[in-house]
Amino acid sequence: MNITILGAGSIGSLWACHLANAGHNVSIWSNKPEKSETLLILDNQNPKRFITNSVLQLKSADVILVTVKAWQVKGAISALLEHLAPETIIVFMHNGMGTMDDLPVSLYEHPIVLATTTHGAYKPSQNSICHTGFGSTTLGGYNNLGQRCHFLSDVFENALPSVTWSDSINKALWDKLSINCVINPLTAIHQCLNGDLLQEKFSTLVVQLVSEICAVRHAEKFEINSDVLLTSVHQVISATAKNHSSMQQDISHKKITEIDYINGYLCKVAQRHGISVPTNQELYSQIKNIEQSWS
Ligand code: PAF
Repeated sequence: MNITILGAGSIGSLWACHLANAGHNVSIWSNKPEKSETLLILDNQNPKRFITNSVLQLKSADVILVTVKAWQVKGAISALLEHLAPETIIVFMHNGMGTMDDLPVSLYEHPIVLATTTHGAYKPSQNSICHTGFGSTTLGGYNNLGQRCHFLSDVFENALPSVTWSDSINKALWDKLSINCVINPLTAIHQCLNGDLLQEKFSTLVVQLVSEICAVRHAEKFEINSDVLLTSVHQVISATAKNHSSMQQDISHKKITEIDYINGYLCKVAQRHGISVPTNQELYSQIKNIEQSWS
């Protein structure tokens, strides 16, 4: 298939390499217009070259995999829409929720697929990618056209397993969001490793966050029991104990975080239902204050 990756950060680059290894014609679209080629080295593999910023590749793309940060999604995809064929499938893969709420209407003429992944990767330099943790990926249709793209799970599975198709992608997105609402702001504020959150001093905060998240999920009809969520938060913390979360890295590099689409999204939904979420609200404000202090 002809696949263009929009956003060659760590997750985008990881998929670019694996999809190319699986035999697909992969190109990259980057925010550096002067670039015509991207060299990527995944772990100890041989370097791979990807055609970059080619309108020709965009026009023939079967799939656009959008892996930019949540707050970059609208600007990045809007700029490409005029070049895409109507049947091009657009797959969004990022942390957080709420990005679909304000995208241009013409986007909905395309099959839209949402994806969430638990693979861990980081880029120690511009061209190299370390795959730090094997995880799994879930795909699911967002609109009617997207719901017919079930076959994509085989395409992705052949490239980087394991991949499943979900008929209720929002449930998978809420599961990931719930984990991110706990791990990301705490590790970013305290500038610590994910594993440090197992310390006793964080336990009350973690329980409060989990209970607020469960209340909002109940109102949204994506119920989860608080003990079940607490256990899965602890499992992810343990499995990624030596990792720096994406938000910890963003804050340490003074980059805008995805907080508006993580705890910010949870607070927005909570407000709509008249539910009070003071702990999430407090962490949201703390991250916003850190971001604002840079300007
Ligand atoms: O954003 C991240 O870093 C990851 O989604 C997670 C699961 C918190 C692990 O670091």
